[in-house]
Amino acid sequence: MAINYNDLAKYVNYVPTMKQEKFHFWNTSHVKEQLFGGGLGGGKTASLIIDMFLYCLVYPKAKCLVLRKIQKDNSVVFEAKTLNFLNSEYYTYMKSSSKIIMNNGSSITFGGIKDESQFESYQGTEWQYIGFDELTHFRSEDYEWLKTRNRGEAGYPYLIRATTNPIGRYVDWVYDKFIKDKSIDTIYSTDVKVKASVNGNLKEVNIKIRQQFIQSLLIDNPHLEAEYLASLSLMSEDQKRTLIEGEWLMEGNGSIFKRGDFRLKEADFNNFERVFSFVDTAYKVEKQHDYTVISHFGMTYDGELCILNYDRVKEEFVELKSLIVSAYNSMEKVYGARYSEMYIEDKASGISLLQELKTEGLNIKALSRGNTSKLSRAKQVSHLVKSRFFINKDMDKDKIRILLAEMCAFRGDGKSHDDIVDTIMDALAFLTTNTHFNYKNIQNFSTFLKRRGLDG
Ligand SMILES: Nc1ncnc2c1ncn2[C@@H]1O[C@H](COP(=O)(O)OP(=O)(O)OP(=O)(O)O)[C@@H](O)[C@H]1O
Ligand SMILES: [Mg+2]
Repeated sequence: MAINYNDLAKYVNYVPTMKQEKFHFWNTSHVKEQLFGGGLGGGKTASLIIDMFLYCLVYPKAKCLVLRKIQKDNSVVFEAKTLNFLNSEYYTYMKSSSKIIMNNGSSITFGGIKDESQFESYQGTEWQYIGFDELTHFRSEDYEWLKTRNRGEAGYPYLIRATTNPIGRYVDWVYDKFIKDKSIDTIYSTDVKVKASVNGNLKEVNIKIRQQFIQSLLIDNPHLEAEYLASLSLMSEDQKRTLIEGEWLMEGNGSIFKRGDFRLKEADFNNFERVFSFVDTAYKVEKQHDYTVISHFGMTYDGELCILNYDRVKEEFVELKSLIVSAYNSMEKVYGARYSEMYIEDKASGISLLQELKTEGLNIKALSRGNTSKLSRAKQVSHLVKSRFFINKDMDKDKIRILLAEMCAFRGDGKSHDDIVDTIMDALAFLTTNTHFNYKNIQNFSTFLKRRGLDG
């Protein structure tokens, strides 16, 4: 049976949102693995169950499995509420076995997994459609293992679908697989090498797997109750950024900077004793080349470091030079004498820049990072992020998002962009050697005391 989307009301009591509609296009998009992820309440879980139901209507005798991690012993997995969307003429719900049996012989099994060992109970069956609710609660190996069960009825599309919020214990691999370096809502192909029988011989062949990440946000769903929306306003600013705006939080294995350690705070300009910049240069405009990042920091009288703003550019030498000069001048204009200096690493592309900039009469200094590896530099300063670092909360939202993504993805293995990380590590190292708690360094002692409530 083919489903005409104009007739959807015959089968389901549900009008999909635009995002949910995208999620249901497996018949034409031929996407094998799809992630529907983002903030809270976009309608991800509901559309996953409805999607399986539509699939079951089209493909008789299809076996679908939907999995969710559960905490307690009981295996009641999904709210009966989702069933209200499905036209009961077409199915029977078997509560005792957590299963939907369709009139045409298809079925949807609701699986609740308490721990990894329980995946084995799904081993003996072939599932044509496997869904994961909250994918970041699953390990990559369990996902991959279950994919080997995704086969069976000839001629059926074999689908893997998942929903998730952008946080969770296993967020890293989900982010790497579906989001990192990919465009949102766009279908892309990944090459996978597999051993297959070609004319009776086992050969390695390349196959293309179509994948897609569809972003789901609260604002996509007009069906949420006012009371629910009001309760969300009580979340912290950080929670709102992830759970409402869908920002991804990577804090899994190997990351050195933890998302939870970063604070956003108002940058009180009067509280800066000193303002300065660090530049991480790369001036060749090549595809794989890094960005040049110019980051500006303020150091407070209380010995905290704030990243005020940064620019991330890919420019040729001449443009880059004038960009740096104009960044310097505009910082000096805003902060006057408090803008003390700009540092550029005297290595590789920085060397010639430093030479040229010397003639401009600006206080630009050479920064030597020595031979210490990035990883050990990061480890030396990572503890400071929680206690003495904050991000100017008025910085452009996208910039904050990119900064946090870069910091939290950093593992020192060169696999992710780390130009912003570099400048922040430099500034944190600078903070430790220029601490204000050495009273001789305090340029304005009375202001310092006032800030700390110690004067008079
Ligand atoms: N198209 C729709 N029409 C009517 N109600 C909908 C629709 N989509 C979702 N809902 C309702 O909106 C609410 C949120 O949906 P759902 O639980 O599927 O969101 P979610 O994205 O999975 O949320 P979370 O991120 O919290 O897991 C539910 O009450 C669901 O029944
Ligand atoms: Mg959900």
